[in-house]
Amino acid sequence: MKKRIYIETYGCQMNVADTEVVQSLLQEDGHEMTDSMEDADVLLINTCSVRENAEQRVYGRLGEYKRLKLQKPGIVVGLLGCMAERLRASLLGERARGVGKAVDLIIGPDEYRKTPALLRDAWNGDKGIAVRLSRVETYDDITPLRTDGVSAWISVMRGCDKFCSFCVVPLTRGRERSRSLSGVVKEVEALCARGFKEVTLLGQNVNSYRDGPFDFADLLEAVAGVDLSIRVRFTTSHPCDMSAKLIRTIAGRVNICNYIHLPVQSGSDRILQLMNRTYDESHYLRLLESIRETIPDVCLSTDFISGFPTETEEDHRLTLALMERVQYDGAFIFKYSPRELTPAFRMSDDIPGEVKTRRIDELIRRQSEISEEKNRRLLGQRFAVLVEGPSKKSSSEWQGRTDGNKTVIFQGGGFSRGEYVVVSITRSNAATLFGEVVNPAQVLPIAISADIAA
Ligand code: SAH
Ligand code: SF4
Ligand code: F3S
Repeated sequence: MKKRIYIETYGCQMNVADTEVVQSLLQEDGHEMTDSMEDADVLLINTCSVRENAEQRVYGRLGEYKRLKLQKPGIVVGLLGCMAERLRASLLGERARGVGKAVDLIIGPDEYRKTPALLRDAWNGDKGIAVRLSRVETYDDITPLRTDGVSAWISVMRGCDKFCSFCVVPLTRGRERSRSLSGVVKEVEALCARGFKEVTLLGQNVNSYRDGPFDFADLLEAVAGVDLSIRVRFTTSHPCDMSAKLIRTIAGRVNICNYIHLPVQSGSDRILQLMNRTYDESHYLRLLESIRETIPDVCLSTDFISGFPTETEEDHRLTLALMERVQYDGAFIFKYSPRELTPAFRMSDDIPGEVKTRRIDELIRRQSEISEEKNRRLLGQRFAVLVEGPSKKSSSEWQGRTDGNKTVIFQGGGFSRGEYVVVSITRSNAATLFGEVVNPAQVLPIAISADIAA
């Protein structure tokens, strides 16, 4: 019987992409998606376990679902994603902080094909759990359900074999496996035909992509070759196996964006070793040097973890020094959060909360100054901006992004989503550029975008 499905997504872009797979499977089975919780027959929540606060947020939402279920006892509540995988059956019991009873379905990231069947069982009153991890599942044959738009996320590999000592992802997502190159290219062709203008290839560690003889650089090259008017992005690269070939490929293709997110986590070799990151600072800096030599206008961002076990003031200072030296365009900075069953969990979480707070504040403040200064230097420059839509803050302004992934806000109207405009930058802050459109009417061939900044 046809049901109305409401689904909420937390966590990384992989989860956003997975939600579209689940929606596709459910639509195929005759159900209908809804944006309204109140109207829904089924409430699904796709969850993240990466830090404690990500899970807290989900418990908060489940409390809300539970209240709805009390008013409307027939509805089915399903928990998907990394928390489903990590907590499994315990989510149905007492440990689930009073919300467990509200949950009818628990489905891990590799078992989404079972969602329609489990939903039917749940409708008949049977609670269902499916949390096996797979070595082969990539959902390569499933066309994710996407509403028309400018940008699409495409998951190209799943899982992670890196086992960084702090990280729960290898436990929640299982072993690395890749989709076929031809499957990804077909999906991109279909997206282009529908008018999408940007694709972001996703994996926890895209450098490990492999399909027979093809590596990630081959995949990028193939995707970029589909249509020169689409931008190609990717995330995330691990600093350990980012090849020279990949760097050359990014530089060589005008529509592969010159933006790399390269998480470093710490500037201290001692901490990097404890984190099992398998590189040291000098390897990381040499890699950045070769990236900047090959792709001169590259924009870079990173992740840092502050307050990893045993982190001293000196380790923290080394992280600040690395941040200073690299001059990232942006950084995501997190307080260390101990995750059960990870190797680091066995170390004591010995950095007091107030010290973590002070260190993370120092890192955030310094990065914000650096970002502000870097953006200030862009005043007067021109960028090809892919128009995403009206700005979130004001209806008379529009927004889009540069090749380097910087958000640009500009005045005026009459733009269409998915068109390229040239914007001259007149103002900036740490997070955003503001400017005026120089050629509103013309659709800009992306091939010249790289020359515009000059
Ligand atoms: N696969 C990606 C990142 C996945 S998780 C990579 O390796 O780069 C995204 C970020 O969350 C990580 O880069 C790390 O900075 C942060 N993170 C992961 N586990 C964490 C933990 N236990 N505590 C705090 N931050 C964590
Ligand atoms: Fe986690 Fe490390 Fe894998 Fe990234 S590379 S997902 S941080 S284990
Ligand atoms: Fe979170 Fe799972 Fe992504 S733990 S960061 S949703 S892979």
